Amino acid sequence: MRKLADEAGTLTLRRMHPRDLDEVLELQRRAFAHPWSPELFKREMTHDWSTILLAEDVGPDGRPRILGFLIYWLVHDELHILNLATDPAHRRRGVARALLEKTLADGRAHRCSMATLEVRRSNEPALALYRAFSFRAVGVRPNYYVDEGEDAIVMVADL
Ligand SMILES: CC(C)(COP(=O)(O)OP(=O)(O)OC[C@H]1O[C@@H](n2cnc3c(N)ncnc32)[C@H](O)[C@@H]1OP(=O)(O)O)[C@@H](O)C(=O)NCCC(=O)NCCS
Repeated sequence: MRKLADEAGTLTLRRMHPRDLDEVLELQRRAFAHPWSPELFKREMTHDWSTILLAEDVGPDGRPRILGFLIYWLVHDELHILNLATDPAHRRRGVARALLEKTLADGRAHRCSMATLEVRRSNEPALALYRAFSFRAVGVRPNYYVDEGEDAIVMVADL
């Protein structure tokens, strides 16, 4: 089956604008048990080193709709992925893959040598996604996610 991201022109990737905030907050409420606050999103949009990338298509009503987002930092020669989510109704269609491909390409364009991220130990879909992009586990941060006392796996990829 062809993936959404491979279909000609159906998926647009662009930076988040403040007017997207409500739609992005709705999406991440559906995607996460512990969503980021509006203030965190607003703060990210003010940082020069931070990018919030959105994946968008055109819905059945002919209007653009946001399917996923990825937040990353470019700091010196390191790309750090802070957050990534696809709307639950649009998973396994290549949305996260498209976001990650663009992000890693941006990192290479900025001459970053490595990409890093943290992921919950139990998050099999995300672990599988990152492994597919040659991320490898390099360490554990115990109780990193304090709400559930869950460990984070630290992953790294060479760019
Ligand atoms: C993880 C997440 C972002 C994946 O988004 P997605 O758009 O469904 O992913 P894609 O369709 O681009 O998948 C690309 C590849 O990732 C892997 N993958 C994605 N979801 C998977 C799953 N549920 N099980 C196993 N592998 C999975 C597969 O290798 C997949 O390729 P394939 O479909 O050809 O097998 C999504 O499940 C999500 O939003 N989860 C909740 C939020 C979250 O956990 N974010 C990560 C924080 S670190």
